[in-house]
Amino acid sequence: MIIGGPSSQLLGGRVAAALDEELALCEYSSFPDGEAYTQISSDLEEEITVVCSTPSDRDIIQLLQILDVLRGRRIDLVVPYFGYARQDKQFKPGEPLSARAMAVAIDAFLAEGSRVYTVNIHDRSVLNNFRHLATDLDAAPLLADEIRSMGLHDPVIISPDKGAIRMARAAAERIGVDYDYLEKTRHSGTVVSMAPKEIDASGRDVVVLDDMIATGGTMAQAISILRDNGARRVYLGSVHPVLTGSAVLKLCRAGVKAIIATDTLEKAVSTVSVAGLIAEALRS
Ligand code: R5P
Repeated sequence: MIIGGPSSQLLGGRVAAALDEELALCEYSSFPDGEAYTQISSDLEEEITVVCSTPSDRDIIQLLQILDVLRGRRIDLVVPYFGYARQDKQFKPGEPLSARAMAVAIDAFLAEGSRVYTVNIHDRSVLNNFRHLATDLDAAPLLADEIRSMGLHDPVIISPDKGAIRMARAAAERIGVDYDYLEKTRHSGTVVSMAPKEIDASGRDVVVLDDMIATGGTMAQAISILRDNGARRVYLGSVHPVLTGSAVLKLCRAGVKAIIATDTLEKAVSTVSVAGLIAEALRS
């Protein structure tokens, strides 16, 4: 039986369909004071998989409520988008490692033998905070296959910074195209320029690939730079389309041709499904 969290209803349904398993009926609503109300209405089956992204604090509360209903059971828990994963380092005294706090809180509900899955979590070291077997699944090949099917002109895959190049390289190698990253050059205390490190993007279709787009600031800057460098069309690829606030407006104003993302978060741009990837991991 698959239980889809409040922000993973479509993906939960897709995983259930891929595995030919029942999708549990759940109610997600609010008490009059605004507190979250969660109920799993279906009778629970023996084997349970929870698919629950946590893009908001409320999603985290509702995940904990689901896990409380399932306490004592061995379950598979899939958190496709793991909220707070970026807060995995302390920059100032007194700051929490929120990613660890989330993992520890979730882990406390899981019975012996349970398994945890994430998809392209910001840093895999977060998974070390689980006592249970925790595995990060890689959606980059799915994005790569989608990019390949788009019939782009002399494409190049670019990472918005050196740190995120692993995904760009993996996708580019799968498709058999060039890859590069945007390198910052500091000219003075205030003047910084960015450009592809080695590749000339002019006249080429470029796909900027990153694990997530949140405010869109990183990607908007990348689009502008690449267009200034003569790129023909600039596409964005992202596993997690967080797209807060006016991110989409920023990206459109910067001149993005299209955004390709997965359904770890269910947005209009989530055209690549990770359901098959999750189903395969659960089967194995
Ligand atoms: C950063 O480490 C991530 O890989 C993304 O580059 C970042 O989270 C994007 O954030 P934003 O869209 O707010 O620039």
